[in-house]
Amino acid sequence: MIWVFDSWFGGYYTLWLLREKFPDFDYIFYADTKNIPYGEKSPEEIKKYTFAWLDFLFDKWVAIVILACNTASAYAIRDWQAKYPDKKVLSVTIPGVEAMLGKWYKNVWVFATNATVKSEIFPKKFHEIKEFEELDIHQVWCPNLVTIVEDKELNEDYINSEILNYLASISSNNLDALVLGCTHFPLLKSHIEKHFYWDIIDPSHEAVIALEKYFEKHRDIYESIGKNGRIEIYTTWENKFN
Ligand code: DGL
Repeated sequence: MIWVFDSWFGGYYTLWLLREKFPDFDYIFYADTKNIPYGEKSPEEIKKYTFAWLDFLFDKWVAIVILACNTASAYAIRDWQAKYPDKKVLSVTIPGVEAMLGKWYKNVWVFATNATVKSEIFPKKFHEIKEFEELDIHQVWCPNLVTIVEDKELNEDYINSEILNYLASISSNNLDALVLGCTHFPLLKSHIEKHFYWDIIDPSHEAVIALEKYFEKHRDIYESIGKNGRIEIYTTWENKFN
């Protein structure tokens, strides 16, 4: 069983990508819809909720948890791994950071939630892995993109104008790639691509590739995952979109 966790739609998208790659696996997706948006919570709250969820999930039998929330990863993954090195959590954020390594990039922009931007997880992690690589990582807080995805505010003009607003904060002389540093944002990728012509990095997509590599080295974990193509989805609040 693979467990996927997020506040809601971003993790659902990550789950969709995972199912594309590993359609036979059994999945459980937990969405903490009651506490969305994580991106507006304090560091203490984010860590508290994320640890509570990971404790809950690992209390059941679980092979691996995919932490499909960059905000939760920013405040909890390091401490979790230090505390429980045997309880495997793959955060989408780290593969997202690794996707910037060894490229020709000089300036990368990260679109993320307020809390992720404040944590500076993307620049910090990058420079921790590659101390001497010269890359400037700039961050933009994009609160309305989470709202657009969650509220299904699908009016084209509104979406485009919001995206153009955020893209306007990027200096066009000075950019090589954009990281969609919140799992909700790839759901707007088709809109972003209309106005952004450079590389786009999607951490969830990178995480699926990282997971495939992980399984090459950890066949025991791969074998232990149920393969009946089952999927269960739980939320902590009534689904307001039903
Ligand atoms: N999906 C979460 C992330 O990747 C953010 C959404 C939220 O603010 O709850 O950061």
